[in-house]
Amino acid sequence: MEYCAIVLAAGEGKRMRSKRSKLVHEAAGKPLVRWVADALAEAGVADQVFVVGHLQEQVRATLGDGCAYAVQERQLGTGHAVMQAEGFLEGRSGVVLVLYGDTPLLRGVTLEGLLARQRETGAAGVIMTARAPDPTGYGRVVRGADGLVSGIVEEKDCTAVQRTIREINAGMYAFDVAALRSVLGRLEARNAAGEYYLTDTIGLLVSDGRPVDAFEAPYAEVGGVNDRVQLQAASAVLNRRICEAHMRAGVTVEDPATTWIDASVTIGQDTTVLPGCRLRGATEIGADCVVGPDTRLTDTVLEDAAEVVASVVVDSRIGVRAHIGPFTYVRPGSAIGPDCRIGDFVEVKNSTIGHHTNAAHLAYIGDADVGDNVNYGCGSITVNYDGATKSRTTIGSGAFIGSNSNLVAPVRVEADAYVAAGSTITADVPAFALAIGRARQVNKEGWVLKKGRVRKRKG
Ligand code: UD1
Ligand code: CA
Repeated sequence: MEYCAIVLAAGEGKRMRSKRSKLVHEAAGKPLVRWVADALAEAGVADQVFVVGHLQEQVRATLGDGCAYAVQERQLGTGHAVMQAEGFLEGRSGVVLVLYGDTPLLRGVTLEGLLARQRETGAAGVIMTARAPDPTGYGRVVRGADGLVSGIVEEKDCTAVQRTIREINAGMYAFDVAALRSVLGRLEARNAAGEYYLTDTIGLLVSDGRPVDAFEAPYAEVGGVNDRVQLQAASAVLNRRICEAHMRAGVTVEDPATTWIDASVTIGQDTTVLPGCRLRGATEIGADCVVGPDTRLTDTVLEDAAEVVASVVVDSRIGVRAHIGPFTYVRPGSAIGPDCRIGDFVEVKNSTIGHHTNAAHLAYIGDADVGDNVNYGCGSITVNYDGATKSRTTIGSGAFIGSNSNLVAPVRVEADAYVAAGSTITADVPAFALAIGRARQVNKEGWVLKKGRVRKRKG
């Protein structure tokens, strides 16, 4: 059997009230339409066309050049959208899956079930259905006295009795290609919305005496996204799935309700993710790590046994057994080596740091290359910006940067040098030297008494 797929992604998505196409809104870090494309790929249906129209440049940018497109200039309904893909169907036979781009919960195995049902029954059309906890907004599946599907009625066109039907049209169909083509041209826009409904193809097939069947799937596999309430609900289901997959693979996720993990993130065995974390994008977490509580990692690599507590790390790499946080901000382009300790209120940006280096508190390390076993004192900062250009600071291995120092870049502190606390360093410091860059202290004996400035005590 030959299989192909048409995915509808041209709609306006009005109910999202967004400047962006609904289909590029993300759930678990993946655009809605991508979830559908990936489910198709999982089911082995690689021959796909996407119908695009409203804000099509956004949808095309999301899906890329690797797939076929059909254009629906005016959004006249789901049936009209499929008509725009007739050119794609020409010369094809077998079975075509018609899917909507706003159903991110769909899985490959569910599609395989739909295709298997079509294969077993030889039906001209099989629709995916579900029992919705709240059927509002969905097309209702109408069955005859014999229990067979007789058609789909959109909510706007339902009678009061039909509205109480809980069996909904999930919006996923497997059609015999020739059968679909035989009814498409007969769709009419005579309904409450004035649109060409794809759903009417089912009633047309039934009245042509062609066999139509239904395949029921759990609602959590097929629910659609029309507004941001449904987007959140779908995201929560996907997130739960993702967290459970990690748990089954040996990761402890203490609280999936407050832990949001993108589909793209990988996590190694025996890592613990504590509550309040957001793990995003191309983040790769090793084994035996502890992440959280209250941590955001974006596009970040955590090597094995690293620990990040209550911190934000973006587009950076954290070495084996390194300890970050609480309250550390690691900005893009940073690589922190093994066994480092980067503590509270330290910001690191576009810097490399070797192994066993500590910056325990209240510091800024920006545009710097820091060696191994460096002690970077409390309150010290790299002065990397002179108002016009950014310059780099180099700190050799074994160096000691005393508290509250300013390292005015470009500058080098060579290996094993010391910088005295409170120094402003503007010239390179040779290896093994002590640099002191501050005014010498003056004590004026008896000054307070002489000036009558003894301060009053309370209590
Ligand atoms: C549709 C079904 C409904 C089903 C529900 C399942 C119809 C008439 N109704 O309703 O029975 O219960 O999905 O989620 O099919 N689109 C286009 N061009 C258009 C209109 C829509 O490409 O002119 C695309 C949209 O981008 C979207 C999909 O088709 O991806 C579905 O459209 P939407 O308006 O969301 O349909 P629903 O009202 O949800
Ligand atoms: Ca929809």
